Amino acid sequence: MSEQYFAGHPKSRRRPAEIQVAVRGHSFRFQTDAGVFSRKEIDRGTELLLAALEVGPCELILDLGCGYGVLGIVAARLSEGGHVILTDVNERAVALAGKNVAANGIANAEVRFGDLYEPVRDMAFDHIVCNPPIRAGRAVVDRIVTEAPMHLLDGGKLWLVARTRQGAGSLRERMAVSFNSAEVVRRGSGFKVLRSTKAGI
Ligand SMILES: C[S@@+](CC[C@H](N)C(=O)[O-])C[C@H]1O[C@@H](n2cnc3c(N)ncnc32)[C@H](O)[C@@H]1O
Repeated sequence: MSEQYFAGHPKSRRRPAEIQVAVRGHSFRFQTDAGVFSRKEIDRGTELLLAALEVGPCELILDLGCGYGVLGIVAARLSEGGHVILTDVNERAVALAGKNVAANGIANAEVRFGDLYEPVRDMAFDHIVCNPPIRAGRAVVDRIVTEAPMHLLDGGKLWLVARTRQGAGSLRERMAVSFNSAEVVRRGSGFKVLRSTKAGI
């Protein structure tokens, strides 16, 4: 059986590849490898989330479950003066994300290894962006949603993407429970981009 993309220490034989893309008017190149999510091309859900994402200057952004780093690297390029932390539990993904941050000339991002919010346990962000690891199981995805408010500033936003026919509806319901509301901000290619905002005081 092929290895799951969220294996902590992938053992699959290396198959390095490079993806070159233009996103939101900027050019990027991403090194990828076997044992990481969507090795050959940017996932369509990730693409849709990137098209929808609204970040401003000087914002603090978390890319949770960064894979080879595409969400966090694009967010860093879009948030002038901002800072992005990319995290993943897959050590091969973390290594690739670090290389890709450097290769794309991104100075306002850093990559940390670890489980869910553990690498940022004392921090709160303007945005959390995540293409959630559905295959890692419901408990993992539930924690991404239920613990998000503790890691958002007032007015901060959780951005998730999911397949319309594979969990977007139930994910939206779970976001609505944790945040009191969740909206569909974009749909296409069989995916929905979902957003919840942490209410201010
Ligand atoms: C669907 S992939 C998305 C990857 C990347 N953000 C993208 O859009 O291409 C989900 C990622 O979450 C990571 N992941 C799974 N379980 C995790 C956990 N408990 N903590 C942190 N990351 C996790 C996986 O290793 C994988 O890289």
